[in-house]
Amino acid sequence: MRILIVGGGGREHALAWKLAQSPRCEAIISAPGNAGTASLGQNLPIRDTDIEGICRVAAEQRIDLAVIGPEAPLAAGLVDALMERGVLAFGPSRAAAQIESSKWFAKSIMRGAGVPHAQGELFDSAQAAHKWLEILGPDDLPVLKADGLAAGKGVIVPDHIDDAHQAIDDLFGGKFGSAGERVVIEDRLSGMEASAMSIVSGTDIAPLPLSCDYKRIMDDDRGPNTGGMGVYAPPGFVADVEGVFSEIHQPVVEQMAAQESEFRGLLYAGLMVADGSLNVLEFNARFGDPETQAVLPLLDGDLLDLIEASARGRPLPQDAISHSGQASVSVAIVSGGYPGAYETGKPIDGLDAVDSSVDVFHAGTALSDDGQVVTAGGRVLAVTAVADTLAEARGIAYDNVRRITFDGSFYRTDIAQRELI
Ligand code: AMP
Ligand code: GLY
Repeated sequence: MRILIVGGGGREHALAWKLAQSPRCEAIISAPGNAGTASLGQNLPIRDTDIEGICRVAAEQRIDLAVIGPEAPLAAGLVDALMERGVLAFGPSRAAAQIESSKWFAKSIMRGAGVPHAQGELFDSAQAAHKWLEILGPDDLPVLKADGLAAGKGVIVPDHIDDAHQAIDDLFGGKFGSAGERVVIEDRLSGMEASAMSIVSGTDIAPLPLSCDYKRIMDDDRGPNTGGMGVYAPPGFVADVEGVFSEIHQPVVEQMAAQESEFRGLLYAGLMVADGSLNVLEFNARFGDPETQAVLPLLDGDLLDLIEASARGRPLPQDAISHSGQASVSVAIVSGGYPGAYETGKPIDGLDAVDSSVDVFHAGTALSDDGQVVTAGGRVLAVTAVADTLAEARGIAYDNVRRITFDGSFYRTDIAQRELI
């Protein structure tokens, strides 16, 4: 098969890497890709949200299967557009992608499916939202969310009631564009977060190992949120992993099928786990980034078989992949200054000094005119190690992270540490 990977981050490099291992993969073409995907095939300079451009490339390149990484093209209907043109595509339709692109749609599905989640209310005016905060009282701090997609920035967890009121003004004032025309205010939950992903074909699901990502820029979860500073899999604090899929993913996909928004693709539940209770904070309609960089290296077997069956809406071959039962740790190396302003174009040294058992997934990288790998984004690389225990995987990952350097490079030193104490 000739496979088109849409997107250019670490997640897409990991997907390209795993799919390239399939005996049925003839070619990997990435749009736009990065220096990592360039080593697996061809990169084409097309933005992931350029629906027409991607459909054109799919036809020109005789693509047999398109795999969509990011949420924005899914929410914009890329899968529908490709399928209408006869190109098989992995990912949900625009209607089903609402499980991510509308927080309120996700809540209505969870309510219908009886899935435990953070309870909330929908508001379409600032006035009504301010009033709701007054009813809640100053000590009852909620979480505020733009209903629509806001590039991962539309969730505000205020520390003070004044910040909550300010968030309402920001959301309705257009700070997050049309995503904030409707706002969800929901209960604030506490506990440990975990990500649960499964490949879905209608009402059939194939669970993947659970994982935990680290969002804050600095050790001990200090500093601003980022696109992800690292991840490990699996977490030790989820007692009933099977229950996550039978009590969350399964009822949700059944509810979606019943509501004429059948889901195909990757369903990701962001969970809050506390003392035996489990609640859903959000759904994503695509592989997590950076979770994918830690989870795919744990899988044995042919991911392409599963992805193709999902895209065709066929029953999933449950024996296509298995989990080795090992653990993985993935550490992001980022540009100095990220998530604020940072410089790009810095040559990256040490990539060839990495152990052959370690996977280095590229995110913001590019090839310079003379073929040198240089930085091209905030998150630059994800260094993933797999071993029998989390402690071993962590040791190997950091040993290799230290061999890679570029001007201003930065990484967290505490990924997976909390599991080892
Ligand atoms: P989301 O985009 O919905 O995952 O939200 C981003 C982050 O905000 C989550 O990973 C949580 O850390 C936090 N968050 C979202 N919803 C809640 C909630 N109801 N209670 C506490 N924290 C939340
Ligand atoms: N790691 C969080 C996400 O992919 O949305």
